[in-house]
Amino acid sequence: MSRVLIISDTHCPGMRRGYVDFLKRVAERWNINRVVHIGDLVDWASISFHEKSPSLSNATREYQKARRQVASLARAFPKADWLIGNHDALTERQALTAGLPVQVLRDYQDMWDIGWRVHPRFSKLQIDGVIYSHGDCGRGGQDAAFKQAKDNFRSTVVGHFHSQAGVRWWANPEFRVFGMSVGCGIDSSKLQFDYGRKLSAKPILGCGVVIDGQRPVFEPWLLRSR
Ligand SMILES: [Fe+2]
Repeated sequence: MSRVLIISDTHCPGMRRGYVDFLKRVAERWNINRVVHIGDLVDWASISFHEKSPSLSNATREYQKARRQVASLARAFPKADWLIGNHDALTERQALTAGLPVQVLRDYQDMWDIGWRVHPRFSKLQIDGVIYSHGDCGRGGQDAAFKQAKDNFRSTVVGHFHSQAGVRWWANPEFRVFGMSVGCGIDSSKLQFDYGRKLSAKPILGCGVVIDGQRPVFEPWLLRSR
């Protein structure tokens, strides 16, 4: 049986300083034996399809900065499952837009020099009967994890929704399932997250833990300044 740590959206180079140490503390507290990065390990703001600030780093600089943060995560957690999120996939999405076959791209492990097991975009990874997915395929809106768990007929853990965190259960006479959103690990003061200034719902910092597929916990990151 597994004791899973779920690393939330980190959007490197926009990961908040101290997040890796927070994750290490949680991993120790729960005696974790398996790690899942729920997706959006990296941000790729410089090549996104959205309107962006002209003051952002260019793609080369962003890649270099992101590599350093990714390396710090990989040092702390050398083995993990990584679910490719919509931001991680921006290189293949841009290649597709340009008409390039994805086979010409470097694979994700090579691109980020990381030994994690990669699960392609929209994968549903199952551990002890619980589904782990990035969260961008399936229903969104409020309580997205809960709605996706009902749709899956299975307990489900998602990231992607930075301002959603926590566990909600649902049961009928035959089944009982939970949906858990795991917040994020981003530093919202960074320019790449400027779009969030107009949103009333703010990022919730933390990570997830699931014990033996039965006991989901959202661990909030308690910062003195909040
Ligand atoms: Fe995402």
